[in-house]
Amino acid sequence: MRTKFVAGNWKMNTTLSEAKALAAAVAKGVSPTCPVIVAVCPPFPWLAAVGEVVSGSPVALGAQDVHFEKKGAYTGEVSPAMLKEAGCKYVIIGHSERRHQLGESDAAVNHKVHTALEEGMHVILCMGETLAERERNLQERVFQRQVYAACAGLSDEQFSRLTIAYEPVWAIGTGKVATPEQAQTAHAFVRERLRVVYGAPIANAVSILYGGSVTPENAAGLLHQPDVDGALVGGASLKADQFLAIANAATAP
Ligand code: 13P
Repeated sequence: MRTKFVAGNWKMNTTLSEAKALAAAVAKGVSPTCPVIVAVCPPFPWLAAVGEVVSGSPVALGAQDVHFEKKGAYTGEVSPAMLKEAGCKYVIIGHSERRHQLGESDAAVNHKVHTALEEGMHVILCMGETLAERERNLQERVFQRQVYAACAGLSDEQFSRLTIAYEPVWAIGTGKVATPEQAQTAHAFVRERLRVVYGAPIANAVSILYGGSVTPENAAGLLHQPDVDGALVGGASLKADQFLAIANAATAP
């Protein structure tokens, strides 16, 4: 049984005081017995402060990116050890906004995944097709390429700290959410590809989240699909009541 997981990707939003207030409201709204893993991923400069706010609550802290080296002369970059010291358990890697706006390659994503896992973090690996790729029916080729490239060389133990987030680029920030059937088809395909290469135990254990215009209104339909194990939420994670409603939708039977 995979535990449902709902994470908020705040992207480049919030002031420090907004971040602390949002984190406090989320922490207050998640009960210690909540059966869903809930995490918030604020911008780098707010990590330590938000970490203090959520510490002692069931809400976990995550970062939105990390560098692929462990330390050294990499101006402006942040290492996994720094994220851990700031209180992060999770790190998002390979978000489409980084792949498409900053040219992050599959090879760089694989390097980051390895470094973060070697340093003891849990990784949320993002993947998904663009609108042009879907219109040409190339999505499955894209999924296979992205997943195999990102996961190349991982050990079984490392897979146990990997979560995949399927985020169709055409659904991110557009209000055009994938249908529950589209999400289920994509997730089942990714799981099947994992099974072919890594075997059933790993494929069945890896959680696959859906991301892209998730709201309290559409969350239940998505989250009740058999291969949709949670949500990576952007815009709606900036409003505590909406984010908590999505987490609640994941708990309902
Ligand atoms: P939205 O929920 O704003 O579409 O963003 C999704 C996302 O990119 C989460 O990483």
